[in-house]
Amino acid sequence: MKKIIADRTELVDASGIRKVFALAAELQDPVNFSIGQPDFDVPEALKEEAIQAIRAGQNSYSQTAGDEVLKEKITQRVAAEYGWENPAVLVSSGVSGGLLLTFMATVNPGDEVIIPDPYFVMYKHLVNLLGGKCVFVDSYPDFELPVEKISRAITDRTKMIILNSPCNPTGVVYSEQQVRNLAQIASERDVLVLTDEIYERFCYDGACPSIAHYHQKTLVLKGFSKSHAMTGWRLGYVAAPAGLRDVIEQMTKIQQYTFVCAPRPFQKAAVAAMDYDVSDWVAGYRRKRDLLYEGLKDTFELVRPGGAFYAFVKAPGGAASPFVEKAIRNNVLIIPGSVFSEKDTHFRISYATSDEKIEQGVEILRSLA
Ligand SMILES: Cc1ncc(COP(=O)(O)O)c(C=O)c1O
Repeated sequence: MKKIIADRTELVDASGIRKVFALAAELQDPVNFSIGQPDFDVPEALKEEAIQAIRAGQNSYSQTAGDEVLKEKITQRVAAEYGWENPAVLVSSGVSGGLLLTFMATVNPGDEVIIPDPYFVMYKHLVNLLGGKCVFVDSYPDFELPVEKISRAITDRTKMIILNSPCNPTGVVYSEQQVRNLAQIASERDVLVLTDEIYERFCYDGACPSIAHYHQKTLVLKGFSKSHAMTGWRLGYVAAPAGLRDVIEQMTKIQQYTFVCAPRPFQKAAVAAMDYDVSDWVAGYRRKRDLLYEGLKDTFELVRPGGAFYAFVKAPGGAASPFVEKAIRNNVLIIPGSVFSEKDTHFRISYATSDEKIEQGVEILRSLA
């Protein structure tokens, strides 16, 4: 019989997550530590912007690279932030859309992409889907940026290095010194860096330094999903210095034949979102971070997260999957480290939930350890 499914689908494995959700489906009012989105809703003023845009008939396609007003605003923002002259910008369907377009425009079959491990799941699967080769660089046990190891992993086939700080799943924020050191190596070896800064606003203990300040060959990916709780609005952007304009142009060309554009009424609302102050929420999440960390630190091995809303905790005995199954049977939803890593020693907690649920979850996890 003729096979319908393409071979490339076998390059993507979603079994780890599916297993968690299958187990979770049987739970009643669980402590849900698995969700990758904030527990607050889109601010009313921004909802109003979107509603008005819809009512005003702004429901058609936008320009492929994004609504002019939003693009201009992003351009000004990144120019001021990184000191870039005349940067190139593309508004994408979430950071996910930006990631797919970036890889499609840059990764040839066989090209190597260096990824610190643990990593955000999508990187691995998208690179594999395109025939690229992921080169994982171990960042255990402190999850700091493994600059030396990355340097040793660079070869003639290296297409790019991916950074994600604050990091999903570890919550770790790379230090200024680490970022500068990597920038120096990337500049000397002339390697492209993709920096995924979707959690930039969730930064609790001082600055979250960006490599874009120190390395010219950098693509910056940012989004609205997490900072403004708009995960369903599908909005993000890719920005680059003028020297990488050709990459952004190729990505725009591919967007034309895939996503076409990011959702237009929400692009209107994003203009207002860029000036919307989310610092109260961030302060709330800093407190949640403290609540979770203080609750777990004496029982579990974990690094104090400096950003995002995740903690990556070592499972008792160092075997994550059996512990995760046990936790789920006890009504706490967590994700095994193997979903985000080549190892399965840790589990990820998302503390984007109520304080009450955090306290409840901490209590149960401690009792299971
Ligand atoms: C590190 C990281 N990058 C990108 C994304 C994708 O976000 P979106 O496509 O909603 O902008 C996520 C979502 O969980 C993420 O954690």
